[in-house]
Amino acid sequence: MHLAGFGRAVGLLSVLSITPVHGHPSLIWRQAVNRTADSAELKTWWHNTGEINTRTPVKNENVRQSHMYSVQVGTASNATGFYDSFVYESIPRNGNGNIFDPTDPNSVCNGQNCSKDDQITIEPDIGVDMAWTQYLATTATVVKVTRSDGGSVDPSNVIIRPTTLAFDMQRSGNALLITVPYSESGYRFSVEFQDNLWQYRIRKDSLNSQYVQNKSPNGENYVASYDDSMSIVGAEPTNALMIFMSPFPRPEYVPSIDSAYQVRTGLVTGLDKVSESIVYFGPGVYWLTGSAHAILSSSVTWVYLAPGAYIKDAIQYESQSLDLRATGFGVLSGEQYVYQANTAQQYRNIKSDDTSLKMWRGHSARGAKWTVHGLTTNAPPFNSMDFYGDLNSFSIDASDYKQVGAFFGQTDGIQMYPNSHVRDIFYHVGDDAIKTYYSNVLCERMTVWKTNNAPIVQFGWYQRDIDNVTVDAVDVIHARYISQAAPWPRALVASAASYVNPDSTSIADSTKRLSNYNITNWRCEGICPALLGINPLQNIDNMLFSNVSVEKLLSDATQVGFSTFRVFTDSARGNKPIALGDNSPGKLGLVIENFYVGEEKISMEAKNWNAKGHLGIDEHYDGRWTVR
Ligand SMILES: *[C@@H]1O[C@H](CO)[C@@H](O)[C@H](O)[C@H]1NC(C)=O
Ligand SMILES: *[C@@H]1O[C@H](CO)[C@@H](O)[C@H](O)[C@H]1NC(C)=O
Ligand SMILES: *[C@@H]1O[C@H](CO)[C@@H](O)[C@H](O)[C@H]1NC(C)=O
Ligand SMILES: *[C@@H]1O[C@H](CO)[C@@H](O)[C@H](O)[C@H]1NC(C)=O
Ligand SMILES: *[C@@H]1O[C@H](CO)[C@@H](O)[C@H](O)[C@H]1NC(C)=O
Ligand SMILES: *[C@@H]1O[C@H](CO)[C@@H](O)[C@H](O)[C@H]1NC(C)=O
Repeated sequence: MHLAGFGRAVGLLSVLSITPVHGHPSLIWRQAVNRTADSAELKTWWHNTGEINTRTPVKNENVRQSHMYSVQVGTASNATGFYDSFVYESIPRNGNGNIFDPTDPNSVCNGQNCSKDDQITIEPDIGVDMAWTQYLATTATVVKVTRSDGGSVDPSNVIIRPTTLAFDMQRSGNALLITVPYSESGYRFSVEFQDNLWQYRIRKDSLNSQYVQNKSPNGENYVASYDDSMSIVGAEPTNALMIFMSPFPRPEYVPSIDSAYQVRTGLVTGLDKVSESIVYFGPGVYWLTGSAHAILSSSVTWVYLAPGAYIKDAIQYESQSLDLRATGFGVLSGEQYVYQANTAQQYRNIKSDDTSLKMWRGHSARGAKWTVHGLTTNAPPFNSMDFYGDLNSFSIDASDYKQVGAFFGQTDGIQMYPNSHVRDIFYHVGDDAIKTYYSNVLCERMTVWKTNNAPIVQFGWYQRDIDNVTVDAVDVIHARYISQAAPWPRALVASAASYVNPDSTSIADSTKRLSNYNITNWRCEGICPALLGINPLQNIDNMLFSNVSVEKLLSDATQVGFSTFRVFTDSARGNKPIALGDNSPGKLGLVIENFYVGEEKISMEAKNWNAKGHLGIDEHYDGRWTVR
């Protein structure tokens, strides 16, 4: 257990806070500044109960505040007027340690009561965290960032990701000034100080490689020094800082407060008894404890989290309305839950695909739609969202949605049911990020920060008919894969083997097919996994990759498990003859065009598709795929 009990006393101090610097607590003063902007051009907000605490759970009524960054925002036309914008922070396991029972901080997951592996290892020991701030603007803005550790704020020390944004940066005294143009899609970007990076290395290249660290001798997987066998698999800021700029919301995203049920700040109870259709969380802090979540009464169709609302909870709709919504610029935080909190078992860490807690859940009526806009979901303890019911007629309209602090392993992106439109999203994500399990889906303008497991785009697990899917304009800004293993490939785009029988890929369904599946305009920054890792469970009629650029591919040595697993492992495993193109006359099979690794274009002509492109496609498929 990391310092259990230590933080309880700390949490009582509201102005004085304790920040461990290299493991030694030091006292620092926090100014109770809160000059926020609330004009027609700019809106920022603040929490008076910010708690700086990088180690332990914060008090119920407190909001974890960045120990590292302060942010102010002004409009670009009046850059002398800067306004405070609260910088939130999320830490691995929320300072709880790897616990089993939310009511018992000493209940360590020991492999008996629960699976020990929550896929967090060295992160708490090396002091990893993720901070973020969010503001609204109608115009270009200047974001002013200061650091509490005295490190350089010179633009030469800073990279903004995605790097294509190329925002103007200047230094002003001890602050970094970033000019953020206006965009109707908003911006979701990472500010990265180059003296604050952690290079992730793995101990051995195997299925369950683990990160090693040389920083904390009493921490996990400590090594006194690195050797050449410990390859680097990714690099991230130790103290991440995400900035979310959004336009002011359109009227359909803001309910009238008059007819709404206004939740009182503090401990929330009784949302199952509400008779109104709108539940309105105004600015302030709300919690339900780690042993409860909000099961909304069946009248509630719309949950609104105002800017400055911070809700430690998960939301479950019971409404059968065709128009469900969750909007606002508040935060829904899973920080009080243990990993895989099982709602049927006192919210303990006992994994169940059905009853482990989702941050967003519902049982949909036929033909219903869920609109989600503006929100930030923090620290999901499991898959972040799942609906149940007639999913083939349910759809999602998601925009300007953010997921942060997804340090636990099984923390997926949101589901995209048929006819969904998902755009302008940031995912910090531990598991399958973009889930293309259904037809007629458009997913665009995604910024993804991937941790150590599962692909960026997943289309496997079950035999499926999928038609008409586009995933366009994706920037992967980080990845740190511990291996690229089959039968659950870790790749940019992958199809995992059958969920029901993972050891067998011989149960593909050749009557089903994937068609009109386009992955276009992708960039992956830094060290990236292979483009494809496919255990096909159905025919692939036509799959197009166009304009994919990868800065650098992860070493081939991390490809373990199957000998040729990267694409189409079926023939080696006695699978049924799943076809590329075969069952659909005139279809192209697999086309990869304008695929670059670094500066090098990958093509059949150049004969570099395997050695440089890591496209280990089975010979079985000759003639039905092309790289051009
Ligand atoms: C700013 O601080 C004052 C004094 O503590 C408080 O009354 C006010 O509500 C705060 N405003 C915001 C936006 O937090
Ligand atoms: C610029 O911001 C300052 C500080 O808030 C304010 O007093 C001033 O009126 C603003 N000027 C303009 C031109 O908006
Ligand atoms: C494991 O579970 C058992 C039975 O629920 C309980 O008695 C025991 O205290 C738990 N151990 C830990 C370390 O949580
Ligand atoms: C393909 O899916 C998109 C996104 O849902 C939809 O707008 C379009 O109508 C679909 N095309 C066809 C032919 O169904
Ligand atoms: C996929 O790309 C092809 C080639 O550009 C195009 O003909 C097709 O309409 C696209 N399909 C979808 C679903 O966007
Ligand atoms: C690929 O990039 C080129 C050049 O930017 C662009 O013209 C083309 O439309 C892109 N292809 C797709 C499928 O978006």
